[in-house]
Amino acid sequence: MKEDFSKYLDKPIFKAVSEVCNENGLSAFVIGGYVRDLILKRPCKDIDIVVLGSGLDLAQKVAEKLEIKKVQYFKNFGTAMFLYDGDDVEFVGARKESYNRDSRKPIVENGTLEDDQNRRDFTINAFALSLNKSSFGMLIDPFDGLKDLENKTIRTPLEPDKTYSDDPLRMLRAIRFATQLDFKIEKESLEAIKRNAERLEIISQERITDELNKIILSPKPSKGFKMLFNTNLLHHFFPEMVDLQGVETIDGKAHKDNFYHTLEVLDNICENTDDLWLRWAAIMHDIAKPRTKRFHKKVGWTFHGHEDLGAKMTPKIFKRLKLPLDAKMKYVQKLVRLHLRPIALVKGNVTDSAVRRLLFEAGEDLEDLMTLCNADITSKNEYKVEKYKRNFILVETKLKQIEEKDRVRNFQPPISGDLIMKTFKIKPCYEVGVLKTSIKEAILEGEIENDYDQAYDFMLKKAKELGLKV
Ligand code: CTP
Repeated sequence: MKEDFSKYLDKPIFKAVSEVCNENGLSAFVIGGYVRDLILKRPCKDIDIVVLGSGLDLAQKVAEKLEIKKVQYFKNFGTAMFLYDGDDVEFVGARKESYNRDSRKPIVENGTLEDDQNRRDFTINAFALSLNKSSFGMLIDPFDGLKDLENKTIRTPLEPDKTYSDDPLRMLRAIRFATQLDFKIEKESLEAIKRNAERLEIISQERITDELNKIILSPKPSKGFKMLFNTNLLHHFFPEMVDLQGVETIDGKAHKDNFYHTLEVLDNICENTDDLWLRWAAIMHDIAKPRTKRFHKKVGWTFHGHEDLGAKMTPKIFKRLKLPLDAKMKYVQKLVRLHLRPIALVKGNVTDSAVRRLLFEAGEDLEDLMTLCNADITSKNEYKVEKYKRNFILVETKLKQIEEKDRVRNFQPPISGDLIMKTFKIKPCYEVGVLKTSIKEAILEGEIENDYDQAYDFMLKKAKELGLKV
Protein backbone atom coordinates (compact mmCIF):
# COMPACT_ATOMS: atom_id res chain seq x y z
CA MET A 1 0.00 0.00 0.00
CA LYS A 2 1.40 3.40 -0.95
CA GLU A 3 0.06 6.52 0.67
CA ASP A 4 1.17 10.09 1.11
CA PHE A 5 2.01 10.85 4.71
CA SER A 6 4.19 13.90 4.00
CA LYS A 7 1.92 16.10 6.15
CA TYR A 8 3.32 14.28 9.18
CA LEU A 9 6.92 15.01 8.28
CA ASP A 10 7.02 18.73 9.00
CA LYS A 11 9.95 18.66 11.45
CA PRO A 12 13.19 20.31 10.23
CA ILE A 13 15.12 17.09 10.93
CA PHE A 14 13.22 15.26 8.18
CA LYS A 15 13.85 18.03 5.67
CA ALA A 16 17.56 18.00 6.54
CA VAL A 17 17.85 14.21 6.10
CA SER A 18 15.99 14.47 2.82
CA GLU A 19 18.35 17.16 1.53
CA VAL A 20 21.48 15.27 2.57
CA CYS A 21 20.16 12.14 0.86
CA ASN A 22 19.42 14.10 -2.29
CA GLU A 23 22.88 15.72 -2.32
CA ASN A 24 24.66 12.39 -1.79
CA GLY A 25 22.52 9.98 -3.76
CA LEU A 26 21.38 8.16 -0.60
CA SER A 27 18.04 6.64 0.31
CA ALA A 28 16.61 6.94 3.84
CA PHE A 29 13.37 6.25 5.71
CA VAL A 30 11.80 6.97 9.10
CA ILE A 31 10.97 3.56 10.45
CA GLY A 32 9.32 1.59 13.24
CA GLY A 33 7.65 2.91 16.37
CA TYR A 34 7.90 6.57 15.40
CA VAL A 35 5.75 6.02 12.30
CA ARG A 36 3.28 3.90 14.25
CA ASP A 37 2.89 6.63 16.88
CA LEU A 38 2.64 9.32 14.21
CA ILE A 39 -0.33 7.57 12.65
CA LEU A 40 -1.88 6.86 16.05
CA LYS A 41 -1.24 10.48 17.08
CA ARG A 42 0.66 9.38 20.15
CA PRO A 43 3.61 11.47 21.31
CA CYS A 44 6.99 9.91 20.49
CA LYS A 45 10.47 11.33 20.96
CA ASP A 46 12.51 8.51 19.43
CA ILE A 47 13.05 8.95 15.72
CA ASP A 48 14.68 5.96 13.98
CA ILE A 49 16.10 6.58 10.54
CA VAL A 50 17.20 3.72 8.31
CA VAL A 51 19.51 4.36 5.38
CA LEU A 52 20.54 2.08 2.56
CA GLY A 53 24.21 2.45 3.41
CA SER A 54 26.09 3.66 6.47
CA GLY A 55 24.10 5.07 9.38
CA LEU A 56 27.29 6.60 10.79
CA ASP A 57 28.01 8.56 7.60
CA LEU A 58 24.48 9.84 7.23
CA ALA A 59 24.37 10.95 10.88
CA GLN A 60 27.62 12.83 10.45
CA LYS A 61 26.42 14.61 7.31
CA VAL A 62 23.05 15.56 8.79
CA ALA A 63 24.75 16.79 11.97
CA GLU A 64 27.03 19.01 9.85
CA LYS A 65 24.06 20.46 8.00
CA LEU A 66 22.17 21.22 11.21
CA GLU A 67 25.35 22.34 13.01
CA ILE A 68 24.91 19.75 15.73
CA LYS A 69 28.14 19.39 17.71
CA LYS A 70 27.42 16.36 19.85
CA VAL A 71 26.95 13.13 17.94
CA GLN A 72 27.35 9.73 19.57
CA TYR A 73 28.77 7.02 17.33
CA PHE A 74 28.40 3.33 18.21
CA LYS A 75 30.73 1.82 15.65
CA ASN A 76 30.24 -1.76 16.87
CA PHE A 77 26.52 -1.52 16.22
CA GLY A 78 26.79 0.68 13.12
CA THR A 79 24.51 3.25 14.71
CA ALA A 80 24.83 6.93 15.57
CA MET A 81 22.56 9.31 17.40
CA PHE A 82 22.07 12.89 18.45
CA LEU A 83 19.52 15.02 20.23
CA TYR A 84 17.71 17.55 18.11
CA ASP A 85 14.79 19.76 19.11
CA GLY A 86 14.06 17.47 22.05
CA ASP A 87 13.96 14.32 19.92
CA ASP A 88 16.40 11.40 20.09
CA VAL A 89 17.37 10.80 16.50
CA GLU A 90 19.05 7.48 15.70
CA PHE A 91 20.60 6.47 12.37
CA VAL A 92 21.28 2.93 11.25
CA GLY A 93 22.03 1.15 8.00
CA ALA A 94 19.31 -1.18 6.66
CA ARG A 95 20.09 -4.69 7.86
CA LYS A 96 19.23 -8.30 7.58
CA GLU A 97 19.27 -10.41 10.73
CA SER A 98 19.51 -14.08 11.47
CA TYR A 99 19.36 -15.65 14.90
CA ASN A 100 21.08 -18.35 16.81
CA ARG A 101 18.84 -20.39 19.14
CA ASP A 102 20.69 -19.60 22.38
CA SER A 103 20.88 -15.89 22.12
CA ARG A 104 18.75 -12.93 21.26
CA LYS A 105 21.79 -11.27 19.68
CA PRO A 106 21.32 -11.57 15.93
CA ILE A 107 23.94 -12.09 13.26
CA VAL A 108 23.70 -8.88 11.28
CA GLU A 109 24.44 -8.21 7.60
CA ASN A 110 23.77 -5.21 5.40
CA GLY A 111 20.39 -5.54 3.73
CA THR A 112 17.66 -3.90 1.72
CA LEU A 113 14.72 -1.92 3.11
CA GLU A 114 12.64 -5.06 2.66
CA ASP A 115 15.10 -7.11 4.74
CA ASP A 116 14.97 -4.44 7.38
CA GLN A 117 11.18 -4.48 7.54
CA ASN A 118 11.09 -8.29 7.58
CA ARG A 119 13.20 -8.45 10.73
CA ARG A 120 10.78 -6.30 12.74
CA ASP A 121 8.52 -7.57 15.48
CA PHE A 122 5.01 -6.50 14.48
CA THR A 123 3.28 -5.28 11.36
CA ILE A 124 2.44 -2.02 13.15
CA ASN A 125 6.15 -1.56 13.94
CA ALA A 126 7.35 -2.24 10.41
CA PHE A 127 6.17 0.90 8.64
CA ALA A 128 8.70 2.97 6.71
CA LEU A 129 8.12 6.55 5.57
CA SER A 130 10.27 7.69 2.68
CA LEU A 131 12.50 10.73 3.18
CA ASN A 132 13.71 10.65 -0.44
CA LYS A 133 12.91 13.71 -2.50
CA SER A 134 10.97 11.95 -5.25
CA SER A 135 8.77 9.97 -2.83
CA PHE A 136 8.89 12.11 0.33
CA GLY A 137 6.18 10.99 2.77
CA MET A 138 5.31 7.78 0.97
CA LEU A 139 4.37 5.00 3.39
CA ILE A 140 5.87 1.61 2.72
CA ASP A 141 3.70 -0.88 4.52
CA PRO A 142 4.46 -4.33 3.16
CA PHE A 143 2.49 -6.26 5.80
CA ASP A 144 -0.67 -4.17 5.82
CA GLY A 145 0.07 -2.72 9.22
CA LEU A 146 -2.44 0.06 8.56
CA LYS A 147 -5.23 -2.49 8.51
CA ASP A 148 -3.94 -3.94 11.80
CA LEU A 149 -3.90 -0.47 13.31
CA GLU A 150 -7.48 0.00 12.23
CA ASN A 151 -8.52 -3.41 13.57
CA LYS A 152 -6.44 -2.88 16.71
CA THR A 153 -4.48 -6.07 16.16
CA ILE A 154 -0.95 -7.14 17.05
CA ARG A 155 0.40 -9.42 14.32
CA THR A 156 3.91 -10.51 13.38
CA PRO A 157 5.13 -9.86 9.82
CA LEU A 158 6.54 -13.37 9.47
CA GLU A 159 5.41 -16.66 10.90
CA PRO A 160 4.88 -15.93 14.66
CA ASP A 161 6.85 -18.95 15.93
CA LYS A 162 9.89 -17.61 14.10
CA THR A 163 9.47 -14.00 15.28
CA TYR A 164 9.07 -15.07 18.92
CA SER A 165 11.68 -17.76 18.94
CA ASP A 166 14.23 -15.41 17.28
CA ASP A 167 13.73 -12.83 19.99
CA PRO A 168 11.56 -14.03 22.89
CA LEU A 169 11.41 -10.53 24.36
CA ARG A 170 8.87 -9.88 21.61
CA MET A 171 6.34 -12.08 23.43
CA LEU A 172 6.36 -9.56 26.24
CA ARG A 173 6.38 -6.67 23.80
CA ALA A 174 3.26 -8.07 22.13
CA ILE A 175 1.44 -8.12 25.45
CA ARG A 176 2.83 -4.72 26.38
CA PHE A 177 1.66 -3.08 23.14
CA ALA A 178 -1.73 -4.79 23.38
CA THR A 179 -2.10 -3.39 26.90
CA GLN A 180 -0.79 0.11 26.15
CA LEU A 181 -2.81 0.52 22.97
CA ASP A 182 -5.79 -1.59 23.98
CA PHE A 183 -5.25 -3.94 21.02
CA LYS A 184 -5.84 -7.66 20.76
CA ILE A 185 -3.15 -10.17 19.88
CA GLU A 186 -4.00 -12.16 16.80
CA LYS A 187 -4.98 -15.76 17.68
CA GLU A 188 -2.05 -17.50 15.96
CA SER A 189 0.36 -15.12 17.61
CA LEU A 190 -1.13 -15.79 21.02
CA GLU A 191 -0.81 -19.52 20.51
CA ALA A 192 2.79 -19.11 19.37
CA ILE A 193 3.51 -17.17 22.57
CA LYS A 194 2.12 -20.05 24.64
CA ARG A 195 4.25 -22.51 22.68
CA ASN A 196 7.39 -20.40 23.08
CA ALA A 197 6.88 -19.22 26.67
CA GLU A 198 9.88 -21.20 27.90
CA ARG A 199 12.17 -19.32 25.55
CA LEU A 200 11.87 -16.39 27.94
CA GLU A 201 14.78 -17.97 29.81
CA ILE A 202 17.29 -16.39 27.42
CA ILE A 203 16.03 -12.90 28.23
CA SER A 204 17.66 -10.86 30.97
CA GLN A 205 15.53 -9.98 33.98
CA GLU A 206 16.15 -6.25 33.41
CA ARG A 207 14.46 -6.38 30.01
CA ILE A 208 11.57 -8.47 31.29
CA THR A 209 11.01 -6.02 34.14
CA ASP A 210 11.22 -3.08 31.76
CA GLU A 211 8.32 -4.47 29.78
CA LEU A 212 6.45 -5.43 32.94
CA ASN A 213 6.71 -1.87 34.25
CA LYS A 214 5.38 -0.54 30.94
CA ILE A 215 2.39 -2.87 31.32
CA ILE A 216 1.90 -1.66 34.89
CA LEU A 217 1.99 1.96 33.72
CA SER A 218 -0.71 1.34 31.10
CA PRO A 219 -4.24 2.65 31.67
CA LYS A 220 -5.63 -0.83 32.44
CA PRO A 221 -2.79 -3.17 33.44
CA SER A 222 -5.11 -6.10 34.28
CA LYS A 223 -5.43 -6.72 30.57
CA GLY A 224 -1.69 -7.37 30.31
CA PHE A 225 -1.50 -9.46 33.48
CA LYS A 226 -4.33 -11.71 32.31
CA MET A 227 -2.47 -12.29 29.04
CA LEU A 228 0.80 -12.91 30.90
CA PHE A 229 -1.01 -15.47 33.01
CA ASN A 230 -2.89 -17.16 30.18
CA THR A 231 0.24 -17.51 28.06
CA ASN A 232 2.26 -18.88 31.03
CA LEU A 233 4.81 -16.08 30.75
CA LEU A 234 4.02 -14.82 34.25
CA HIS A 235 4.91 -18.25 35.65
CA HIS A 236 8.49 -17.71 34.50
CA PHE A 237 9.27 -14.58 36.40
CA PHE A 238 6.54 -13.94 38.98
CA PRO A 239 5.34 -17.26 40.45
CA GLU A 240 4.15 -15.58 43.66
CA MET A 241 1.56 -13.72 41.64
CA VAL A 242 0.49 -16.87 39.83
CA ASP A 243 -0.04 -18.51 43.24
CA LEU A 244 -2.70 -15.91 44.01
CA GLN A 245 -4.94 -17.48 41.39
CA GLY A 246 -7.59 -19.99 42.32
CA VAL A 247 -10.52 -20.52 44.64
CA GLU A 248 -10.73 -23.23 47.27
CA THR A 249 -13.99 -24.34 48.81
CA ILE A 250 -14.37 -26.25 52.08
CA ASP A 251 -17.73 -26.94 53.75
CA GLY A 252 -19.37 -24.82 51.10
CA LYS A 253 -17.22 -21.82 52.01
CA ALA A 254 -15.08 -20.31 49.25
CA HIS A 255 -12.51 -17.51 49.47
CA LYS A 256 -12.13 -14.99 46.68
CA ASP A 257 -9.70 -15.47 43.82
CA ASN A 258 -6.85 -13.28 44.96
CA PHE A 259 -5.29 -12.99 41.52
CA TYR A 260 -8.37 -11.39 40.01
CA HIS A 261 -8.95 -9.39 43.18
CA THR A 262 -5.39 -8.01 42.97
CA LEU A 263 -5.97 -7.06 39.34
CA GLU A 264 -9.17 -5.27 40.27
CA VAL A 265 -7.33 -3.34 42.97
CA LEU A 266 -4.58 -2.50 40.48
CA ASP A 267 -7.04 -1.20 37.87
CA ASN A 268 -8.86 0.75 40.57
CA ILE A 269 -5.69 2.43 41.77
CA CYS A 270 -4.70 3.33 38.21
CA GLU A 271 -7.69 5.64 38.07
CA ASN A 272 -6.17 7.66 40.89
CA THR A 273 -2.42 7.49 40.39
CA ASP A 274 0.24 7.29 37.68
CA ASP A 275 2.91 6.45 40.22
CA LEU A 276 4.64 3.19 39.37
CA TRP A 277 5.45 2.36 42.98
CA LEU A 278 1.97 2.94 44.30
CA ARG A 279 0.79 0.66 41.50
CA TRP A 280 3.39 -1.88 42.63
CA ALA A 281 2.02 -1.65 46.17
CA ALA A 282 -1.37 -2.66 44.76
CA ILE A 283 0.22 -5.66 43.05
CA MET A 284 2.00 -6.72 46.22
CA HIS A 285 -0.62 -5.98 48.87
CA ASP A 286 -2.02 -9.54 49.13
CA ILE A 287 1.03 -11.39 47.82
CA ALA A 288 1.37 -13.46 51.01
CA LYS A 289 -2.24 -14.62 51.06
CA PRO A 290 -1.52 -18.08 49.62
CA ARG A 291 1.17 -18.68 52.26
CA THR A 292 -0.98 -17.57 55.19
CA LYS A 293 -4.24 -19.16 54.08
CA ARG A 294 -5.98 -21.30 56.72
CA PHE A 295 -9.43 -22.80 57.08
CA HIS A 296 -11.22 -22.80 60.43
CA LYS A 297 -14.48 -24.60 60.91
CA LYS A 298 -16.04 -21.68 62.76
CA VAL A 299 -14.81 -18.62 60.86
CA GLY A 300 -13.98 -20.01 57.44
CA TRP A 301 -10.94 -18.75 55.54
CA THR A 302 -8.34 -16.50 57.18
CA PHE A 303 -5.10 -14.96 55.97
CA HIS A 304 -3.69 -13.84 59.30
CA GLY A 305 -0.43 -11.97 59.09
CA HIS A 306 -0.41 -11.74 55.30
CA GLU A 307 0.42 -8.04 55.55
CA ASP A 308 3.58 -8.69 57.59
CA LEU A 309 4.69 -11.69 55.56
CA GLY A 310 3.94 -9.71 52.38
CA ALA A 311 6.19 -6.91 53.61
CA LYS A 312 8.88 -9.51 54.29
CA MET A 313 8.54 -10.99 50.80
CA THR A 314 8.79 -7.58 49.12
CA PRO A 315 12.61 -7.13 49.15
CA LYS A 316 13.13 -10.70 47.95
CA ILE A 317 10.75 -10.30 45.05
CA PHE A 318 12.14 -6.87 44.17
CA LYS A 319 15.66 -8.26 44.20
CA ARG A 320 14.79 -11.13 41.90
CA LEU A 321 12.90 -8.85 39.52
CA LYS A 322 15.85 -6.42 39.54
CA LEU A 323 13.64 -3.65 40.82
CA PRO A 324 15.32 -1.00 42.97
CA LEU A 325 16.05 -1.92 46.58
CA ASP A 326 16.19 1.66 47.79
CA ALA A 327 13.53 3.98 49.23
CA LYS A 328 11.06 2.89 46.54
CA MET A 329 11.13 -0.70 47.76
CA LYS A 330 10.82 0.49 51.37
CA TYR A 331 7.81 2.56 50.38
CA VAL A 332 6.09 -0.44 48.76
CA GLN A 333 6.99 -2.56 51.77
CA LYS A 334 5.50 -0.02 54.14
CA LEU A 335 2.24 0.20 52.23
CA VAL A 336 1.98 -3.60 52.09
CA ARG A 337 2.56 -3.78 55.85
CA LEU A 338 -0.02 -1.11 56.64
CA HIS A 339 -2.64 -1.86 54.01
CA LEU A 340 -5.17 -3.36 56.42
CA ARG A 341 -5.01 -0.60 58.97
CA PRO A 342 -7.33 1.98 57.42
CA ILE A 343 -9.72 -0.80 56.40
CA ALA A 344 -9.84 -1.96 60.01
CA LEU A 345 -10.84 1.57 60.92
CA VAL A 346 -13.41 1.70 58.16
CA LYS A 347 -14.98 -1.56 59.23
CA GLY A 348 -14.82 -1.05 62.96
CA ASN A 349 -14.85 1.60 65.64
CA VAL A 350 -12.81 4.66 64.93
CA THR A 351 -11.04 5.52 68.17
CA ASP A 352 -8.82 8.58 68.40
CA SER A 353 -5.81 6.55 69.47
CA ALA A 354 -6.14 4.13 66.51
CA VAL A 355 -6.27 7.10 64.17
CA ARG A 356 -3.30 8.73 65.87
CA ARG A 357 -1.25 5.53 65.55
CA LEU A 358 -2.05 5.25 61.88
CA LEU A 359 -1.04 8.88 61.32
CA PHE A 360 2.23 8.27 63.11
CA GLU A 361 3.10 5.05 61.31
CA ALA A 362 2.09 6.09 57.81
CA GLY A 363 3.61 9.56 58.13
CA GLU A 364 4.10 11.21 54.78
CA ASP A 365 2.71 8.17 52.93
CA LEU A 366 -0.72 8.40 54.52
CA GLU A 367 -2.52 9.73 51.41
CA ASP A 368 -1.03 6.95 49.29
CA LEU A 369 -2.02 4.36 51.88
CA MET A 370 -5.57 5.70 51.80
CA THR A 371 -5.56 5.57 47.99
CA LEU A 372 -4.47 1.93 48.18
CA CYS A 373 -7.14 1.08 50.72
CA ASN A 374 -9.84 2.79 48.73
CA ALA A 375 -8.81 0.73 45.70
CA ASP A 376 -8.88 -2.40 47.89
CA ILE A 377 -12.60 -2.07 48.54
CA THR A 378 -13.86 -4.60 46.02
CA SER A 379 -16.86 -6.74 46.68
CA LYS A 380 -19.66 -8.24 44.63
CA ASN A 381 -22.00 -6.86 47.26
CA GLU A 382 -22.72 -3.28 46.20
CA TYR A 383 -24.36 -2.47 49.50
CA LYS A 384 -21.16 -3.44 51.34
CA VAL A 385 -18.98 -1.37 48.99
CA GLU A 386 -21.25 1.64 49.45
CA LYS A 387 -21.14 1.28 53.21
CA TYR A 388 -17.33 0.95 53.32
CA LYS A 389 -16.86 3.89 51.00
CA ARG A 390 -19.06 6.04 53.23
CA ASN A 391 -17.14 4.97 56.33
CA PHE A 392 -13.94 5.58 54.45
CA ILE A 393 -14.82 9.25 54.05
CA LEU A 394 -15.57 9.36 57.77
CA VAL A 395 -12.12 7.95 58.55
CA GLU A 396 -10.49 10.49 56.25
CA THR A 397 -12.29 13.33 58.04
CA LYS A 398 -11.26 11.94 61.38
CA LEU A 399 -7.65 11.63 60.24
CA LYS A 400 -7.67 15.29 59.25
CA GLN A 401 -9.23 16.45 62.50
CA ILE A 402 -6.82 14.52 64.69
CA GLU A 403 -3.80 15.60 62.67
CA GLU A 404 -4.83 19.24 63.01
CA LYS A 405 -5.30 18.82 66.74
CA ASP A 406 -2.37 16.59 67.69
CA ARG A 407 0.16 16.98 64.83
CA VAL A 408 1.37 13.38 65.28
CA ARG A 409 2.07 12.78 61.62
CA ASN A 410 5.84 12.66 61.10
CA PHE A 411 6.14 13.70 64.71
CA GLN A 412 9.39 13.53 66.58
CA PRO A 413 8.65 12.99 70.28
CA PRO A 414 9.23 16.35 72.05
CA ILE A 415 11.77 14.75 74.39
CA SER A 416 14.94 13.41 72.77
CA GLY A 417 17.21 10.63 73.99
CA ASP A 418 19.90 13.26 74.55
CA LEU A 419 17.70 15.27 76.86
CA ILE A 420 16.82 12.12 78.83
CA MET A 421 20.52 11.27 79.28
CA LYS A 422 21.41 14.82 80.32
CA THR A 423 18.50 15.14 82.73
CA PHE A 424 19.33 11.93 84.59
CA LYS A 425 23.10 12.03 83.95
CA ILE A 426 23.12 8.58 82.39
CA LYS A 427 24.83 7.03 79.38
CA PRO A 428 22.91 5.28 76.56
CA CYS A 429 21.13 2.38 78.26
CA TYR A 430 17.97 0.33 78.45
CA GLU A 431 16.15 2.97 80.57
CA VAL A 432 16.62 5.65 77.91
CA GLY A 433 14.77 3.45 75.41
CA VAL A 434 12.00 2.68 77.90
CA LEU A 435 11.46 6.36 78.63
CA LYS A 436 11.45 7.36 74.98
CA THR A 437 8.95 4.64 74.03
CA SER A 438 6.65 5.38 76.94
CA ILE A 439 6.53 9.09 76.06
CA LYS A 440 5.71 8.23 72.44
CA GLU A 441 3.05 5.72 73.52
CA ALA A 442 1.47 8.19 75.96
CA ILE A 443 1.13 10.73 73.16
CA LEU A 444 -0.31 8.22 70.70
CA GLU A 445 -2.74 6.86 73.30
CA GLY A 446 -3.85 10.42 74.08
CA GLU A 447 -2.75 10.30 77.74
CA ILE A 448 -0.76 13.46 77.20
CA GLU A 449 -0.66 15.97 74.37
CA ASN A 450 2.14 16.27 71.84
CA ASP A 451 3.69 19.08 73.85
CA TYR A 452 7.08 19.64 75.51
CA ASP A 453 5.90 20.54 79.04
CA GLN A 454 3.45 17.67 79.30
CA ALA A 455 6.02 15.23 77.93
CA TYR A 456 8.68 16.53 80.36
CA ASP A 457 6.42 16.03 83.39
CA PHE A 458 5.47 12.59 82.12
CA MET A 459 9.15 11.71 81.75
CA LEU A 460 9.89 12.74 85.37
CA LYS A 461 7.00 10.60 86.61
CA LYS A 462 8.04 7.58 84.58
CA ALA A 463 11.71 7.98 85.55
CA LYS A 464 10.77 7.91 89.22
CA GLU A 465 9.04 4.56 88.67
CA LEU A 466 12.27 3.29 87.09
CA GLY A 467 14.30 4.50 90.07
CA LEU A 468 16.11 7.26 88.15
CA LYS A 469 17.03 10.51 89.91
CA VAL A 470 17.44 13.99 88.47
N1 CTP B 1 12.07 -3.90 17.35
C1 CTP B 1 11.91 -5.24 17.04
N2 CTP B 1 12.09 -6.19 18.01
C2 CTP B 1 12.41 -5.81 19.28
C3 CTP B 1 12.60 -4.46 19.59
C4 CTP B 1 12.41 -3.52 18.60
O1 CTP B 1 11.59 -5.58 15.92
N3 CTP B 1 12.60 -6.75 20.21
C5 CTP B 1 11.90 -2.89 16.28
C6 CTP B 1 10.45 -2.46 16.05
O2 CTP B 1 10.32 -2.18 14.68
C7 CTP B 1 10.34 -1.19 16.87
C8 CTP B 1 11.73 -0.58 16.68
O3 CTP B 1 12.61 -1.70 16.60
O4 CTP B 1 9.32 -0.35 16.42
C9 CTP B 1 12.14 0.36 17.80
O5 CTP B 1 12.15 -0.33 18.99
P1 CTP B 1 11.84 0.34 20.41
O6 CTP B 1 12.37 1.72 20.42
O7 CTP B 1 12.28 -0.61 21.45
O8 CTP B 1 10.27 0.30 20.50
P2 CTP B 1 9.14 1.19 19.91
O9 CTP B 1 8.38 0.37 18.92
O10 CTP B 1 9.67 2.48 19.39
O11 CTP B 1 8.18 1.42 21.13
P3 CTP B 1 8.52 1.99 22.60
O12 CTP B 1 9.28 3.25 22.42
O13 CTP B 1 7.16 2.15 23.19
O14 CTP B 1 9.31 0.92 23.27
